Amino acid sequence: MIPEFEAISSKTKILITGGAGYIGSHVVKTFGEAGYEVLTYDNLSTGNKWSVLYGELIVADLSDKERLKKTIVKFKPDAIMHFAASIVVPESVSSPLKYYQNNTVNTLNLLETMMACGTRNFIFSSTAAVYGIPDTMSVNESAPMNPINPYGSSKMMAEKVLRDMHLADNDFNYVSLRYFNVAGADGVGRIGEAYKESTHLITRALKTAKGEFEKLQVFGTDYPTSDGTCIRDYIHVDDIAYAHILALEYLLDKGTSEVFNCGYGHGYSVREVVAAAKKVTSIDFEVEETGRREGDPSILIADNTKIKQGLNWKPKYDDLEYIIKTAWKWENSYREKYS
Ligand code: UFG
Repeated sequence: MIPEFEAISSKTKILITGGAGYIGSHVVKTFGEAGYEVLTYDNLSTGNKWSVLYGELIVADLSDKERLKKTIVKFKPDAIMHFAASIVVPESVSSPLKYYQNNTVNTLNLLETMMACGTRNFIFSSTAAVYGIPDTMSVNESAPMNPINPYGSSKMMAEKVLRDMHLADNDFNYVSLRYFNVAGADGVGRIGEAYKESTHLITRALKTAKGEFEKLQVFGTDYPTSDGTCIRDYIHVDDIAYAHILALEYLLDKGTSEVFNCGYGHGYSVREVVAAAKKVTSIDFEVEETGRREGDPSILIADNTKIKQGLNWKPKYDDLEYIIKTAWKWENSYREKYS
């Protein structure tokens, strides 16, 4: 329970697309625990029914405009949070159309339908991938969007649509949250990343520790960083989820549109993450240093000044070992529970 929001928001209704997925399910949990009324809309392509801990689940696709319209008309959400998306950078390089279709076109479907139904508040899951290769060590929201992979481009396009919609109609408001590297799982092990084909470093490292992969590949050791491997800003999924409560209250209270970075403001190299994963698991899994993966910028770290000031966001889990511990707990429990 998050007491400070309980009283003011207990009747606020939120439609959450992708609420059965990794980040979306943590957001459903956080809003459900805080007393909001939530409804998940998810096609279960990568999400799971059991991960929706609060509210009803509508199993449908965003391309199904009729179903979407019926859902919005019936539920009458005060705001829509849009998580449903494809999120794997290397896959976006090999299958760009899938990304533009799912991330850009389906966002347009959703926006068009919600506008027709009279919903005017929107929270968008964006990504640090919109920045591409930033010029500065840590990147702020006014940096140019120069994505270097189709995943980032597909999200950037959606962000541009949102900006133009707000310019055209001041009653339409949105907050776009640009996530850095989301990781970790629910502290008590109910939900976590359950995508079988996950390419994320922490998940891959832990699956390797469990013996699901023979070895962990480190993609590139010749980057211009302290140890030659890429640096990322890893943020616990529950801190991301809580930022959505703050973003929603901001949106409903201020009636304006904003973009915020969501990251801790410091990073770890791939080698540092591998060392931390070995420490947490006490397993010395095999690591192979190999060539660069396409589409990877060398350093991505958030300048989080704006979200700390604008939303008074105070992250609680800025601790790599805690992040890995929660992910490890999840890795070791979910298969037994659900498969
Ligand atoms: N990496 C490895 N081996 C692996 C997996 C990853 O060396 O098996 C490396 C990658 O090359 C990269 C780093 O670990 O340098 C992080 O890679 P992830 O795949 O975990 O995450 P990305 O940085 O590619 O992307 C993630 C999200 C995106 C988001 C981005 C923002 O998947 O959705 O963070 O920073 F846009």
